[in-house]
Amino acid sequence: MKEMSKEILFSRDAIQKRVQELAGQISGDYAGGELVVIGILKGAFIFMADLVREIGIPCKIDFVRVASYGASSESSGKVVMTKDIETSIKGRDILIVEDIVDTGLTLQYLVDWLKERNPHSLKICVFLDKRKRRKVSFEADYVGFTIDDGFVVGYGLDFNEQYRFFPDVYVIEQ
Ligand code: PRP
Repeated sequence: MKEMSKEILFSRDAIQKRVQELAGQISGDYAGGELVVIGILKGAFIFMADLVREIGIPCKIDFVRVASYGASSESSGKVVMTKDIETSIKGRDILIVEDIVDTGLTLQYLVDWLKERNPHSLKICVFLDKRKRRKVSFEADYVGFTIDDGFVVGYGLDFNEQYRFFPDVYVIEQ
């Protein structure tokens, strides 16, 4: 990452602490129940792995892959499902886990898609909420951190498929 300047936004310690807090909140809200946790590939894979290991209730795990086509740093508005879940969610409590909500288009599309299958409940947990660029009115139920505009990488988030593996989150200058 020599060619880009980067500034740390959330350290791995701060992330771990916040993930534990979120997991505690979720565990309390679903106490005695069982969850189907659905991660959105690829960005959510690290956050989801950490979160489900901290949630103290039984979870089934599944993934979707939803692609938004456009420039690398901005979604175009055209969202397409490229990998569906393989679990029946009818009558189940669903928690969607996502790395970042930006325009809101990806999550809006996915919520509409999953609601067609009549889950008992459906909530959303996002690691980062970038509120300024919303194109649709959208609120997540659980939010790790709210951030300003700016391009973030690490902890699953990429720039042109790079830097997902960084344990900390950085803001980069493009
Ligand atoms: C990113 C991110 C979210 C989506 C958020 O996914 O992981 O899924 O964009 O943007 P939105 O709120 O404007 O729709 P991306 O398409 O870059 O795929 P990735 O998860 O594989 O990085």
